[in-house]
Amino acid sequence: MGVLHETGLLRRLPDVPPSGGTKWTAERVLSIRHWTPTLLSIRLTRYRGFRFTPGHYARLGLGPGAEEKKVGEVVWRPFSVVSAAYDEYLEFLAVLVPDGAFSARLATLEVGDTVFVEKASYGFLTLDQLAPGRELWLLASGSGLGPFLSILSEPQVWQSFERLIVVHSVRQEAELAYREDMLAMPNEALFADARARLRHIPIITREPGTAALSARMPQLLADGRLEDAAGAPLTREESRVMVCGNPEMARDLRSQLSARGLHTSRRNVPGQMAFENYW
Ligand SMILES: Cc1cc2nc3c(=O)[nH]c(=O)nc-3n(C[C@H](O)[C@H](O)[C@H](O)COP(=O)(O)OP(=O)(O)OC[C@H]3O[C@@H](n4cnc5c(N)ncnc54)[C@H](O)[C@@H]3O)c2cc1C
Ligand SMILES: NC(=O)c1ccc[n+]([C@@H]2O[C@H](COP(=O)([O-])OP(=O)(O)OC[C@H]3O[C@@H](n4cnc5c(N)ncnc54)[C@H](OP(=O)(O)O)[C@@H]3O)[C@@H](O)[C@H]2O)c1
Repeated sequence: MGVLHETGLLRRLPDVPPSGGTKWTAERVLSIRHWTPTLLSIRLTRYRGFRFTPGHYARLGLGPGAEEKKVGEVVWRPFSVVSAAYDEYLEFLAVLVPDGAFSARLATLEVGDTVFVEKASYGFLTLDQLAPGRELWLLASGSGLGPFLSILSEPQVWQSFERLIVVHSVRQEAELAYREDMLAMPNEALFADARARLRHIPIITREPGTAALSARMPQLLADGRLEDAAGAPLTREESRVMVCGNPEMARDLRSQLSARGLHTSRRNVPGQMAFENYW
């Protein structure tokens, strides 16, 4: 049976579809935050047994409607966890794509609705994939920023590196999700002893007139403007890089970073870069 997760935050859960096994739990939507009409964060109740490493993704399932009882008709998609490993809830950042099966259901989701969450978490966009370094570059496009929030919520990250450089490429300024949250992090008690300084570099590609960089990330890396904006060179010796989001962007960055001598982890030997593609 699927596990019904009930917390003090919840009243009685409604009926949920019968489960074919013990792979998932039925969680409740606690809140929804719209950054734009097509970009939202959803916060869910968290089954106490759900464990993940920051950077991991979970598989979320949405049924076709409140009345649906058949788990076989649930649409499942992977989503990176945004929330911290120590949070009582699970949070995700999601974009609504045109004509997407999951997006169509996500668009109508309301507080109190059920979202299925597979109990296992997955992925290699985790700090243990990287050798020790001085700067951690977190390079995201669109909703690919999500896992970096979870990674930044770990106090250890703020001790292990001297500099945390978040680069977020979006079409419109309104899509710079969690920017204020990240900039406020150094003032939180949790990071009071932090060694690292955080730099947030926005890239806004389809809204002329903002002060942000406006070219695509591979171009900015190739011509040196990204390193200028960060105030640090990106080198094999000192830099560790994580890339998340658009697969074409990831492919281009990977080839540039490889040319600088950076490698992904191999046979359990940590490397200098790690990737997560969203499609
Ligand atoms: C490991 C992994 C982790 C993921 N984590 C997230 C996440 O945290 N947040 C999130 O919004 N999505 C994430 N995705 C994508 C997500 O799983 C779905 O693909 C997305 O929600 C759209 O689902 P859909 O059924 O509506 O459309 P789909 O049929 O799945 O996708 C249709 C098309 O939409 C485009 N697309 C899909 N996802 C995105 C995206 N995130 N940004 C821009 N274009 C996209 C692609 O061109 C894709 O071919 C992740 C994917 C993978 C593989
Ligand atoms: N964002 C919106 O305003 C919006 C609105 C409605 C629907 N949608 C749909 O939502 C989906 C996701 O859109 P999204 O904006 O979140 O994701 P996206 O298309 O991947 O764009 C996010 C950022 O990545 C950049 N990018 C795209 N391809 C790149 C590449 N090959 N190399 C480097 N950078 C690259 C984009 O720059 P560029 O601008 O140069 O591509 C943008 O800055 C799409 O299907 C879109 O049609 C988006």
